[in-house]
Amino acid sequence: MFAHRHLLGIEQLSQQDILAVLDLAERYATQNRQQNKRSDALDGLTQINMFFENSTRTQASFEIAGKRLGADVMNMAMQASSIKKGETLIDTALTLNAMHPDLLVVRHPHSGAVKLLSEKVNCAVLNAGDGRHEHPTQALLDALTIRRSKGRLHRLTIAICGDIAHSRVARSNMFLLGTMENRVRLVGPKTLMPPGVDKLGVEVTDNMAKGLEGADVVMMLRLQKERMDGGFIPSEREYYHRWGLDAQKLKAAKPDAIVMHPGPMNRGVEIDGTLADDINRSVIQEQVEMGVAVRMAVMDLLARNLREGAR
Ligand code: NCD
Repeated sequence: MFAHRHLLGIEQLSQQDILAVLDLAERYATQNRQQNKRSDALDGLTQINMFFENSTRTQASFEIAGKRLGADVMNMAMQASSIKKGETLIDTALTLNAMHPDLLVVRHPHSGAVKLLSEKVNCAVLNAGDGRHEHPTQALLDALTIRRSKGRLHRLTIAICGDIAHSRVARSNMFLLGTMENRVRLVGPKTLMPPGVDKLGVEVTDNMAKGLEGADVVMMLRLQKERMDGGFIPSEREYYHRWGLDAQKLKAAKPDAIVMHPGPMNRGVEIDGTLADDINRSVIQEQVEMGVAVRMAVMDLLARNLREGAR
């Protein structure tokens, strides 16, 4: 099970792989609620985090996850690195590779950059988000959160809403939820749908009431203004009016539907702040909690494969 050297995306994972991560993460979630959170799965290993894009949740949780498993964790301050002096991504990676890290966690603004890097180094590489391509640990933590709250991870109706075009979170979730045999709906303005959306095998609508109808899960996405180079939306006010989630629009979903958001949130743009804080509907904080557990599970599984390979 989980016979992978790297975690580059969800697209390469089977149902069994996904369940292997979630089952192990469940155990770490329990451990993380205890006073002693330490174990030794990564004892003696070195983990380097390279984040070429800003991050709060993902970087902090990869760091905490590595430390709880006993790894030596180093965060490269990319803003202060030689990348600023013109060194290429690959040269930076080769330099770090020469110091014998075991796990390299990479976030990069270009789709495909993490895979390229994985071909140049001899440690395990984890994709912490590459451009608009994939963000596998986010989809896995979302899946764990859904399974804990719905009791299953199949035959659910999940509405993914908002800025789909720019979202690696949406792509990874589409792969994962599809592999686990759920019904996925993409909801948002036509201008924020990715090209070729009709070939993805999911339902698509620009109408929130239709998109949310009968949904078990409503996953909101951030309006990714930094990835937009023009007028994708009429105005933020208009966007909120039509596609922002509030208690009123949520009524179209099932009465027990949960609300998710990967963060960071724009309150009053894609989601109403009061709804985001409503612990009876919103699982946003649990997503963050599960993020640490899922990253511990993935690094544990990859480290086992590293040790197998070394034998
Ligand atoms: C997401 C990301 O960076 O892709 N955030 C995250 O990792 N929790 C989503 C986003 O930036 O909107």
